[in-house]
Amino acid sequence: MTKSRTLRIVVAVAVCAMVAGCSNSTASSAKKTYTMKDMTVGFIQTGSESGWRGANTSSFKETATADGITLKFYDSQNKIENQITAFNTFIQDSTVNVIVLAAVGTTGYDEVLKAAKAAGKVVIIEDRRIEADASLYYTYIGSDFNKEGHKSAAAMCDLLKGKATANIIELGGDQAASASIDRHKGFAEALPDCTTTKMTVLDYQNAPGWDPVQGKAIMEAFLKKYPGQIDGVFGHNDEQAIAGIQAAEAAGLTAGTGGIVFVGVDATANGFKYLINGKLGADIECNPLLAPQVYKAALDALNGVTGQATWTPSEEGQFFAAQGAAALQAILDTRKY
Ligand code: AHR
Repeated sequence: MTKSRTLRIVVAVAVCAMVAGCSNSTASSAKKTYTMKDMTVGFIQTGSESGWRGANTSSFKETATADGITLKFYDSQNKIENQITAFNTFIQDSTVNVIVLAAVGTTGYDEVLKAAKAAGKVVIIEDRRIEADASLYYTYIGSDFNKEGHKSAAAMCDLLKGKATANIIELGGDQAASASIDRHKGFAEALPDCTTTKMTVLDYQNAPGWDPVQGKAIMEAFLKKYPGQIDGVFGHNDEQAIAGIQAAEAAGLTAGTGGIVFVGVDATANGFKYLINGKLGADIECNPLLAPQVYKAALDALNGVTGQATWTPSEEGQFFAAQGAAALQAILDTRKY
């Protein structure tokens, strides 16, 4: 075999090797484009404290099934320490590439957020605001609870029209939860805006874990403490407002027109039932159907999309008994929760 022929073969082999090398490196360096089916999500839920929470959990489970996402669901029983444990479990789990947190409290998550980031996990905060640097998670998708407080005060003002002064009782959710903290703050901020009735919050107490049984007991105690003095009740969610209604009725008082007026938050099917029977005067919506937005954001994060919003407030409405039973029933028939 002549020298030049050998040389040609050697050069050809070298060129092939280089091309193969390039294609491998380009193939291996070609960035993977993730799809929903590539996502394994560790979802740390608060618990199952309300109808709203049930709808939120269903949103994540049903959407995961529909999109082919692997969902590892964790019920924190409304305990922050359980959430920290779950976070560490998902950080250690090499199959999990996304962690979603619905926070029981507002603080105490920094260490696990830093560890998740170091482990290359995408973290999305859903529903509840937390006090942590936004660089520690991809984005937060959830309600403007302060605004819900403002809407609740405006609704209370409307329901108490005709009274020069009025005394209000506030039945709060869990005191650690941003939903309760911000609704309380928003309500207090907006009360002075009512030009028709001077409203005063007589008393306020939180029901641990959003427990309606404790909410009812709190209302019973307030009815004894302030006999004949309560004009309105603001419940931080439907269960608290309904617990207040049940306590008032058990005490022989009227809930609704001509009696004590009630305002709730969530607008779940149970809340609608009490709007329709007129005992609940107004229900401020809090949207639980957040999964599609959260999963989309997680996929964007996996695919390296940057410049995302730090917070995406949920779209929400409000409903009033004054809309009438038929109209409210027609709306309720179209709703998923
Ligand atoms: O974070 C949203 C709140 O959590 C809902 O208003 C309440 O029902 C749930 O417990």
